[in-house]
Amino acid sequence: MDPPPTGLAATPPLGWNSWNAFSCEVTESDIRAAADALVETGLRDAGYEYVVVDDCWMASELDGDGRLQPSADFPNGMAALADYVHDRGLRFGLYSSAGTETCQGYPASLGRERLHAEQFAEWGVDYLKYDNCGDHRGRDAIDRYAAMGEALAGVDRDIVYSICEWGKNQPWEWGRNVGGHLWRATDDLVAKWRADPDEFGLGVADVLDRMADIDAAAAHGPGGWNDPDMLQIGNGPQSGQSEHEPVDVQRPLTEAEQRTHFAFWCLLAAPLMIGTDLTSLSAFDRELLTNERLLAIDQDPLGIQGTPDRRGADEEIWSKRLHDGGAAVAFHNRGASERELSTHVSAVDVRNSADRYRVCDCWTGNEWETSGPLAMTVKPRDTAIVRVTPQ
Ligand code: GLA
Repeated sequence: MDPPPTGLAATPPLGWNSWNAFSCEVTESDIRAAADALVETGLRDAGYEYVVVDDCWMASELDGDGRLQPSADFPNGMAALADYVHDRGLRFGLYSSAGTETCQGYPASLGRERLHAEQFAEWGVDYLKYDNCGDHRGRDAIDRYAAMGEALAGVDRDIVYSICEWGKNQPWEWGRNVGGHLWRATDDLVAKWRADPDEFGLGVADVLDRMADIDAAAAHGPGGWNDPDMLQIGNGPQSGQSEHEPVDVQRPLTEAEQRTHFAFWCLLAAPLMIGTDLTSLSAFDRELLTNERLLAIDQDPLGIQGTPDRRGADEEIWSKRLHDGGAAVAFHNRGASERELSTHVSAVDVRNSADRYRVCDCWTGNEWETSGPLAMTVKPRDTAIVRVTPQ
């Protein structure tokens, strides 16, 4: 499939979104602080460019003409906030919903797409996250998302269109055709390894299972990306929690689980929207989020989504073809004890004509050569990820 004419989102968008950090309590000063922190932490220079205000930025009433208005928590308005973000070399994003209301009950854009798209363009919005909440007035998802896609295409500004339909109606089959640049393939990711099935949201392992099961990888590529939801890195572990204590589905993510989360989102070539409070970013999280070897896999120009080569109860091997004929290969240990996972270049998505391959461990930078066999020792819930390049 051809990328959309604007050429937007040629690689998966990278940035920060307010929802996982601030939920409905978000304020203008949180957004300014996040923009400042993206610069100060080096995240902007690593490639994270979008600053997206999620739900709850709007006042509870539309104005007399049906326009959205910012709430009192955004006292200087959205154009001034967009300027603040742009002045820091970043891009600005906002949120609305393809229904009568947002998920938190604020006014949304169904039936007012053109008017709201014009507002977004006037304010200097570069990215719209468009949710699926509120009354749909009997209109199906494709129709509702196409209406905003057309409205965005009709304004005089390039706006990345992030479809947040939760994968309910296979948006990978129609997302590009309605002007989308990315579309959620899954329900909301929460900061857990496995979520309680009776509670809201999915854990990291749940999302990986879903991404392995749905047949969406073929639709994924430059200009249109499957989105396994925003990052929960930085939202665990709690202080005092040991990385090796017995697993409880209710506790937040350990460091090993966060490595798995980031490695797989990069292997999936997922949009990477950071979702933690950047004013208290730990050194561990900063290092994880700015790992250049991982980001190069995520942003590889071929734009291929990694897929599983082997999935067992305790062991998974996934790979992703890269533009240089090499591949990223992930060795994921689902079991409770450390183990060696092994595979061979002939079993992963790499060009198989070479006699020798260079292997680079994406966590340590260590390099070695192989004629074919690949093996990594991996801690429980952790993921080793290597880049394999034919010599
Ligand atoms: C839905 C979306 C989330 C977030 C919230 C906001 O749950 O899937 O990503 O935007 O709404 O209310």
